[in-house]
Amino acid sequence: MTATAAELRRAVLTLFDPRGCPDPYPLYALLRDEAPVYRTPEGTVIVSRFTECDRVLRDSTFRVEDEDFVARTLPERKDNITVVSLMGEMVNKNSPHHERLRRLVSKAFTPRRVAGLRPAVERLVDQLLDGMQAEAAEGPVDLMSRFALPLPVTVIGELLGIPENERAWFGPRVETVTAAIERDLSEPYLAASDTAMRELWDRLGKLAADRRAAPRDDMLSTLIKARDEDGDRLSERELLANLVLLYSAGYETTSNLIGNGLVALLERPELLARLRAEPDGIDAWIEEMLRFDPPVQIASRWAGTDTELGGEPVGEGTYVIALLASGNRDPRRFDDPESFVPGRSEGSSLTFGAGAHFCLGAALARMEAQIAFPRLLERFEDIVHANGPAQPRSWLTALRGYPELPLKLVPRGT
Ligand code: HEM
Repeated sequence: MTATAAELRRAVLTLFDPRGCPDPYPLYALLRDEAPVYRTPEGTVIVSRFTECDRVLRDSTFRVEDEDFVARTLPERKDNITVVSLMGEMVNKNSPHHERLRRLVSKAFTPRRVAGLRPAVERLVDQLLDGMQAEAAEGPVDLMSRFALPLPVTVIGELLGIPENERAWFGPRVETVTAAIERDLSEPYLAASDTAMRELWDRLGKLAADRRAAPRDDMLSTLIKARDEDGDRLSERELLANLVLLYSAGYETTSNLIGNGLVALLERPELLARLRAEPDGIDAWIEEMLRFDPPVQIASRWAGTDTELGGEPVGEGTYVIALLASGNRDPRRFDDPESFVPGRSEGSSLTFGAGAHFCLGAALARMEAQIAFPRLLERFEDIVHANGPAQPRSWLTALRGYPELPLKLVPRGT
């Protein structure tokens, strides 16, 4: 059946409806089949098949919204501190500025540093499970606030070198900034975000000054020292902007990997039982969780030159949205994509992006989930929703997840 223009328009409006879209997947399927390169009346192009999403991420013709873009399109906001900070993040830089920042940050964020965190992550997971077990004796336990969030928040705090007693202070400020980004930097969210960002820069600036005076063995100290072959280093603004990026990217996503992954298993008890029986193959299960219901559902770019996508002309300046989560369910790439099948052989999904901006924290996120799931299942022999099926967050633009996941937990051996 061929969808009408009105049906396609309704699907797109539903996907981006600020009131939320509890299940975007049937809408993604409609777009993939009927309008894989969909043009909105405003001129935005939305791609939903794997090949076009992958191309938009890998082809540097498609540019991220950088400082120049914002100066042109949002001149009245370019001096807001939220915007200044966002525009200093590597994720919002194009070549050659992007490579420079990524190279400098990568000098501190090394695979060795991530691997070195493993024992600390194992200890932390066990501590959080102890807390959940104690609470489970009294009634339902919320997985998100007791486990899925504190785990990556603590890990990223530890990694960067943010003192333990200050970590709780950072969370609400980072979330205020994210809320403004998700609402297109509109008021009153932008004003609240500017206050939060000023406080974040102030606090991180003081921490950086402390580390400059007395370096430690943490990533912040290494970032301050990091130099290129030609002696180039991060400016103070670049340092602060990318600390905010690492901190926020480090936990708002990983927490949803844990939440979305567990929901997928709870909806498939036979799979949950299989994973309990074979926890050694956990890496393949985490890859499938990442593909199946990704925490980051979309990425956006703009066309830096006249080009085409899927045979459709795309003019210079066109805003392009790649529906990553839709590409992950494209049957042209993945066999039986609506089924959860650990150990697929079709290759990587789009969950961590692709190309120059491929997620810098992918190894860390994977490690946290690979440690968390087997221990969670080992600790509790029965895990069920306490209040019926979970409700995804009501605001979908880029991030998908559950604000809370109340569970009934039965510890092993009780
Ligand atoms: C499951 C968890 C995660 C998911 C799904 C995820 C997803 C993504 C995606 C899709 C991108 C590319 C965005 C684009 O191309 O527009 C990205 C970039 C990035 N991510 Fe992640 N991320 C996760 C965890 C993390 C963690 C734990 C960190 C850091 C501690 C991190 C740091 C970054 C950074 C710095 C970039 C920018 C890279 C660049 O522009 O070169 N992410 N992430």
